Amino acid sequence: MNISINNPIIAGNWKLHKTIPEALDLVKDIKKAASEVEKAELIVIPPFTALAPVRDVLEDSKIHVGAQNVYWEEKGAYTGEVSPSMLMDAGCRFVVIGHSERRQYFGETNETVNRKIKSALPHGLAAIMCIGETQEERESEKTTEKINRQLEEGLEGLTAGDLENVIIAYEPIWAIGTGLTATPEQAEEVHAFIREFLVQNYGNDIASCAIILYGGSVKPANTYDLLAQKNINGALVGGASLDAESFIQIAKQGLKAYEEKK
Ligand code: 13P
Repeated sequence: MNISINNPIIAGNWKLHKTIPEALDLVKDIKKAASEVEKAELIVIPPFTALAPVRDVLEDSKIHVGAQNVYWEEKGAYTGEVSPSMLMDAGCRFVVIGHSERRQYFGETNETVNRKIKSALPHGLAAIMCIGETQEERESEKTTEKINRQLEEGLEGLTAGDLENVIIAYEPIWAIGTGLTATPEQAEEVHAFIREFLVQNYGNDIASCAIILYGGSVKPANTYDLLAQKNINGALVGGASLDAESFIQIAKQGLKAYEEKK
């Protein structure tokens, strides 16, 4: 994966938003403003229909393109699905796998997440695996148990080498699209737990370079405090990534936090 943990990684998940003309407007504005945040690693994650047009705009830029989902079969009678090589063909190098909305509305499980990661990596796609607890799980102090199970089952059978191409995104479900953000301390506690899981299972070298993103109502005003935390390497942004100005502001705040961390 061609991005480093030494700079903040800011990924914009556009979810089910933007027609092709709207996507082009947004990505052109992001591209124009990206020179203000040159050191940040930006990833845009449009809907499938806009992937190739967005990639064309970004061909001469260092902004990366990702997809929101993938299927594990290469080809065949699987109506409605998109394969890893189709994503590569459309110019993606990243793919979000197991977003909580896919788990909640489309029946994805840790097992399907695992199959998807295993099919994506050999094609050269880096996986952004999403995990997170519900409000109820947090209130009944089941957060780490849930996270541990999602990591164990989602990453089952992957080698340390594979992990170089896996980004973990911690997105507490109660913070997604709600305006509620985990406090920096709450987020850091889970991020540190994730990093420790990686140390125990894949060793120090892999764990210390692993990218762990936070997602859930990230906006310019809360980015600095979140990304100033030791184990938070960037943000997976939903709503606030649909506007170029706020997406770039988030990257600016991320860079500021990284300056302090150095
Ligand atoms: P919001 O930033 O809209 O809360 O969405 C977060 C998210 O789900 C990103 O994948």
